[in-house]
Formats: sequence, C-alpha cells, structure tokens
Amino acid sequence: MRLDKYVSNSTDHSRVQVKRLIKAGAIKVNDNDCSNTSENITAGDLVTLHGELVGRPGPRYFMLNKPQGYVCATRDGLNPTVLDLLDEPRLGELQVAGRLDLDTTGLVLITDDGKWNHAVTSPKRRCQKIYHVTTSREISADSGAKFAEGLWLDGEKSITLPATLETIYSNECRVGLSEGRYHQVKRMFAAIGNHVENLHRESVGAIALGSDLEEGCYRVLTQIEIDSILSAGDSA
Ligand code: URA
Repeated sequence: MRLDKYVSNSTDHSRVQVKRLIKAGAIKVNDNDCSNTSENITAGDLVTLHGELVGRPGPRYFMLNKPQGYVCATRDGLNPTVLDLLDEPRLGELQVAGRLDLDTTGLVLITDDGKWNHAVTSPKRRCQKIYHVTTSREISADSGAKFAEGLWLDGEKSITLPATLETIYSNECRVGLSEGRYHQVKRMFAAIGNHVENLHRESVGAIALGSDLEEGCYRVLTQIEIDSILSAGDSA
C-alpha cells in the first residue's frame, strides 16, 4: 500500500494532510526519512509519525530459493545464513520454518509468525514436503515400499511416518515427507543402503518453488499460499 494511504488509513489525518507531513519529514519508514508519498509499504515495515508507531506491522512470510552453502539458522559463526539473502528490516524477528542442510537447495519458508511456523513444522499437521533426490546408487524397486512402511533410523525413538517415493530415473526420484527429522532424507536412503548425492526441496504443502525464482532470490508469499498452510492438516 502507498505510504500516504497507509498513514491516512491508520490515523485521523486526511491524505492531503499526510502528504504535507511526509514532505515536512515527520514520517519515517524503518527509521529512515521518507519524502516519497507513494513509497510502497509492506507487512513488515515500521512507519512512525513524529516518532510514534503508525498502525501495527503485520506478520511477514517469505519463500527463498536456497543455494548450497547457506545455513538455515539466524546466526552462524562459519557460513552465511539464509537471512543474509534477505533485504528486509528487523531480520532478528524472522525464523526459518523447516530447516534444510547446508548442502541442500530449494524452498525455504521464513516468517515471524510463530503459529504459522509451527503449522509448517509440526509432524502432527502432516504438512508434506517434496524433495527431488539424486542418489549415488540405483534406487531399488522395493525402496518405495520401505519408505511407505516407515524406517527405524539410528538413535530415534519412533519409526518414520509413511513417506512417498516416486522414481524418475534409476538414480533420481521424488520423496514426500510429512515430518522433518534431522537429515531425514539422507538417513532414510542410508538405511536402505543408498546414498543421497543431491537434495532439493520443491514444495511445502501447497507452496511450490516454481521455476521463476532464481537461486538466492526470495519473494513475499501470496495470501493464498499463507492460508494454504493453516487450512491444511488437523487443528493440532
Ligand atoms: N532431509 C535431509 O536429509 N536434509 C535436508 O536438508 C532436508 C531433508
């Protein structure tokens, strides 16, 4: 929404008055002076008038196409984090909803909405994540049945939830998981005597990465994408 509209909607000032206030330097966006009345205000922007917060910043939801070499954490001593790829204010409030390994590429969801994050990651919600997997060895014919039955992974107290496996080529497949244990795809393939060479997340629930978002780039989620997470699964 335009800055002048946002401020007049959130205060008693008319659009004309707001334009004057903007020109007079009374309004700041994310602590920066702003003289552009048509500046685009999005959910996370902090707008102040004479130092007082105007309106309430809404929750923020992003999808990122993660390249290899970025950590899904808010801070890391060694490698860059996925948050380093975001040009957004108040990065400290954002969290990754479902981590990927350093060498895994693809769809990462980032938000400051804790309830939504939980709906993405909680195994009780059964939000399915689809991975494109390349393995070093041929994918055996019984791999799909083993994934569907569930596997006991080292150190785990429960069997994995039923997973899907759709073979694409002899060493390439698509795997669907509705939980997110540590290194889960890699450990599941190791448990059936194979090895993951490349791992790429294509979708989370109804949210798909698509081909138009380049590696390292991100975009704001649409309202339909945001709602799709909360309307899916049970109410746990
Ligand atoms: N499973 C893995 O092994 N790694 C990931 O990054 C995601 C799922």
